[in-house]
Amino acid sequence: MATHKLLLLAGDGIGPEVMAEVKRVIGWLEARGIAAFAVEEDLVGGCAYDAHGAAISDAAMERAKAADAILLGAVGGPKWANVPYEARPEAGLLRLRKELALFANLRPALCYPALADASSLKREVVEGLDILIVRELTGGVYFGEPKTILDLGNGQKRAIDTQVYDTYEIDRIGRVAFELARTRRNKVTSSEKHNVMRSGVLWKEVITALHAKDYADVELEHQLADSLAMQLVRWPKQFDVIVTDNLFGDILSDIASMLTGSLGMLPSASLGAVDPATGKRAAMYEPVHGSAPDIAGRGIANPIAMIGSLGMALRYSFGLGEVADKIDAAIAGVLAAGHRTADIRAPGGPIVGTQDMGAAIVAELDKLSA
Ligand code: IPM
Ligand code: MG
Repeated sequence: MATHKLLLLAGDGIGPEVMAEVKRVIGWLEARGIAAFAVEEDLVGGCAYDAHGAAISDAAMERAKAADAILLGAVGGPKWANVPYEARPEAGLLRLRKELALFANLRPALCYPALADASSLKREVVEGLDILIVRELTGGVYFGEPKTILDLGNGQKRAIDTQVYDTYEIDRIGRVAFELARTRRNKVTSSEKHNVMRSGVLWKEVITALHAKDYADVELEHQLADSLAMQLVRWPKQFDVIVTDNLFGDILSDIASMLTGSLGMLPSASLGAVDPATGKRAAMYEPVHGSAPDIAGRGIANPIAMIGSLGMALRYSFGLGEVADKIDAAIAGVLAAGHRTADIRAPGGPIVGTQDMGAAIVAELDKLSA
């Protein structure tokens, strides 16, 4: 059996608590002889700053580059509000994305039937929802230069961020979206602001040309990002795959998370290009939620997005799609059986803690494998 090199970067806040539940599932997979892992751990975010004065050390970056896949918990918290901008916890995450060239961020939003009432939207709007946001992750305004604050010398300052996209960046993320759509309901919605942004004009042009050239069998529509945000809360089931840039993808995926009941439910995969020599691709998996400092250390965080991220690693990095399906089924099973962390609690219903939820998922995996 192949041994998969896995780097765990639990990070800050609730990161270590939810990562502990991933370790529980890893332990189960190994004990059952389903998969073998060589697991390493390191620091990222505020905890890395405390230890090394940087949001991720060069040594941790080397480990990340050597790993078959990285699992990341969450970064950030009020403790580091005043550290230098270059060393803020988020910088560790952004360095990993950029240096590993993880340009394709897959954020599935799935509404489990048992959770349709946990969403702030009506049951009929979200029940059975299954959409996939494909967010461009290494370009756009997150990384564009210049990115600075200038002192104009007259008591005024000027802040500059640069939104920039090259043809190849739009083309490769478009390909990821069209390919994934073919495995689903065969529809792509591309989103930008071509009515006010030059980058939006090019985005639309490149996606349209790519569609005509290689993916004419897939249904393609374009929606302005503001209108798409509105449609996401009006009738989200009209969507299958949504492809969009780094900043719009950040915002739209937070909106999409609430359709599923809680931000604590959404896993994500960040993938690089496949290396033609080895057939491998750099990959990092992380929950969409943040470090939730307000509830950190209390054992009440929802570990489902983190465990779901391990599932995505099994699917996209290790060729273990069937095992990933089983993890998804176990999550659906515990939810159907009424296990709820505080964020997805039914009104007046009982609440379980982080560890109880992890244990329940493993028990369900046992049941499904019996
Ligand atoms: C996300 C997060 C990050 C982002 C932050 C933590 C830098 O919000 O992954 O969506 O903006 O990309
Ligand atoms: Mg975000």
